[in-house]
Amino acid sequence: MIDFISNVLLATATPVDNGGFWLPRAASTVAEGVDLTFNVITWICYVFFALIVGLMVYFCIKYRRKSPDIVVDGPTHNTALELTWTIIPLILVVVIFTVGMRGYLNLREAPEGCYEVQVTGQKWSWTFSHPEYGASQVAELTVPLGRPVRLLMTSNDVLHSVWIPDFRVKMDVIPGRYTSLWFEATKLGDYHLNCTEYCGKDHSKMLAMVHVIPADEFDGTMKKLASEYEDMSVGELPAYAINRLYNRCVSCHSLDGSSGTGPTFKGLWDRVKNGQVKFTTGESLSSMLGDATEYGEPENYIRESIVDPQKHIVEGYLGSMPAFQGQLKEKQITAIIEMFKHLRDVTDASGNITVNPDGTPTE
Ligand code: CUA
Repeated sequence: MIDFISNVLLATATPVDNGGFWLPRAASTVAEGVDLTFNVITWICYVFFALIVGLMVYFCIKYRRKSPDIVVDGPTHNTALELTWTIIPLILVVVIFTVGMRGYLNLREAPEGCYEVQVTGQKWSWTFSHPEYGASQVAELTVPLGRPVRLLMTSNDVLHSVWIPDFRVKMDVIPGRYTSLWFEATKLGDYHLNCTEYCGKDHSKMLAMVHVIPADEFDGTMKKLASEYEDMSVGELPAYAINRLYNRCVSCHSLDGSSGTGPTFKGLWDRVKNGQVKFTTGESLSSMLGDATEYGEPENYIRESIVDPQKHIVEGYLGSMPAFQGQLKEKQITAIIEMFKHLRDVTDASGNITVNPDGTPTE
């Protein structure tokens, strides 16, 4: 108990900048307004908790019924007292409303000239498209420091919600309509973005990182991101795919052999190449490979499983994969197929990624 109280006191004394007991670090321009509202309400609670509990204990002792013979006969009405306990709370709620409304309006009205990012939520990953650069990122969002960024968001399946605690912004992501939020990062660094609307089994894995980089590096970084795979040779694609594309698959497909919402990627190429895949219809992939069959080359089966995953569902799974038609460039699909073929070169036995996007080993 003493520990808890001292933590609370310490926390409220800590500058909000570095985070504290109640709030994470503050790294956007809107954080100040949100934190102010929070602190005003919290301090009102501290004061009234102490006042009410203190007086209650004091009165319990002072006015206790000292003997059963005492007849209780006190005042029943006091106009001055009733006015006091009406007017003071009224002033307090007006203060809370004013402080809160100011912060809210600031949160809801994006400034002119925002850098725009289109966000798509999909069970269970986030895709961030940068229309200005033709680049897209998965589970990672790079933004410039000190420039307002507006996220225009929608969902491909169910309700999700974007929450970046350090920026103090949060907004539902809804299928069939757009919602938006904006922020301006005030500090370089990496920040967590969470899904905060329960959206199914792997909701807790629907995470992303926001990278805030210097404004003068932003243009170069985005241009590189938009085209890095176009210039790669086939041999370089597995390292690219495991780092830049696999984060779209990670919540359902493991690299270590464990079964998830979808089959593991470990050994997947061997299973496909040899036709050792059974479907829910009882058919087997082996009858679909080879000359004059549905797929011919095993690569076609993988390609179709990405763009139209409902066509054949592997036995033992529910077929909950969304279609990636139109979301990946042909070369990116090739990169994923190459990643399957060379999975041993880019991961270790326990499924850890062992290369950087440029092919150098991770330390
Ligand atoms: Cu998406 Cu929870």
